[in-house]
Amino acid sequence: MANFDSFLLDHAAAEKKASGMAVSMLSHYPDRIELVSAMADLAIEELTHYREVVKWIHHRGLLTAADQKDPYVLAFREFMRKGKEEYLLDRLLTASIIEARGAERFALVAQALEEPALKKFYQSIARSEERHYELFLELANKYVAASTVAARWDELLDIEARIVAELPIRAALH
Ligand SMILES: [Fe+2]
Ligand SMILES: [Fe+2]
Repeated sequence: MANFDSFLLDHAAAEKKASGMAVSMLSHYPDRIELVSAMADLAIEELTHYREVVKWIHHRGLLTAADQKDPYVLAFREFMRKGKEEYLLDRLLTASIIEARGAERFALVAQALEEPALKKFYQSIARSEERHYELFLELANKYVAASTVAARWDELLDIEARIVAELPIRAALH
């Protein structure tokens, strides 16, 4: 919170990447009807979040920053399996975990903020990312057997715990 300006810039980048990820998902799986519809909606919603964060950035006299790799998301990518169904499941489940963490952190940020309008904004962002966490989990269960989803979910959460333990603490979403 002491470096909230940096956090805002990172947040904007994360929303933009989330929108791009949704577009990449719908391009990759044209035969999955529910996925294509859901990802089209999500891409718009995430870009709307981006637009809103950009307003806060400009309001504070800042400029959006050049893209940087997100070490947390990048580390996850190394654990994605290659098989067709495995890859789909891993993409959906890591997306769900990333959204869940986003929801938790935005809620913490909202708690710490004092400016009422900004606090309200982060509360609403947290609720929105919470829905995305559920959406990706629902899609996983739609396309893959529940027992397979549950087993991989557990594995990925262990992987995530190891990733997070190695990450430096910084004024960023992850
Ligand atoms: Fe978002
Ligand atoms: Fe999201």
